[in-house]
Amino acid sequence: WSALGHRLVGELAQRHLNPAARAEVDKLLAGEPDPTLAGVADWADKLRDTDPARFKQTQSWHYINTPPGTCEYKPERDCPDGNCVIAAIEKQRAILADRSQPLEARRDALKFIVHFVGDVHQPMHASNRTDKGGNGYQISLRTDLQPEAYARKNYVDGVMGTNLHSVWDYYILGSKKLELSPYAAKLDAPPWPPAAPTTSDPAAWAGESCRLIESRHLYPEGHKLDIAYLDAQRPLAEQRVRQAAYRLANLLNETLGH
Ligand code: ADE
Ligand code: ZN
Ligand code: ZN
Repeated sequence: WSALGHRLVGELAQRHLNPAARAEVDKLLAGEPDPTLAGVADWADKLRDTDPARFKQTQSWHYINTPPGTCEYKPERDCPDGNCVIAAIEKQRAILADRSQPLEARRDALKFIVHFVGDVHQPMHASNRTDKGGNGYQISLRTDLQPEAYARKNYVDGVMGTNLHSVWDYYILGSKKLELSPYAAKLDAPPWPPAAPTTSDPAAWAGESCRLIESRHLYPEGHKLDIAYLDAQRPLAEQRVRQAAYRLANLLNETLGH
């Protein structure tokens, strides 16, 4: 997801922390410019600018690819070096849970987890296609959204040159044109919980994402999209954000809430 999606997951999860987990989160994030889950949700992407070496080391922790035709995760085949989103969530969770670890390590683990639980719910981040999670699937998107400064060079006569991964990371949620807090409040609605409470395995979350790509026809017929696609897919994107938030809150309540 882009900053908006990650911040929605963080803000929504924060609303469902138990008091003990909330106190531990406050302790770990004391000293952060914005000491909330939403405030740190985008940190793992911002490393690209603030700490390029660390970003490079952690780049593949944001996604998982399985071979064409299967959504089943086999660690030794699909993540042999441990550098994928599923292993990253498990590893950072162990650091977060270990109170003998230095505070800084547990703080970074929390910031990674907030981000990666979001990413693994973004369908394109757990793919079995061979196009880097839709990054290689070019899209001409007709939109009335004002492009960000960096994207303006790809914007001609109301049509944005982008790709399917970015459509899912940003444009579906961004085209709702809501600010963070009103959007999070709107997503904090029945039915809650938005997922079976029993699923706490990141590999299962990735499997769901991967299967949605085919079952919900996320790949369009051609390469031209407009607001109709964004509107049609927004309920699914919002549901994945809700599930990510619910599962993130559960993970933190179980790991920190005692
Ligand atoms: N790079 C390669 N595969 C990717 C994916 N599924 N998501 C994001 N970046 C990727
Ligand atoms: Zn992405
Ligand atoms: Zn990411």
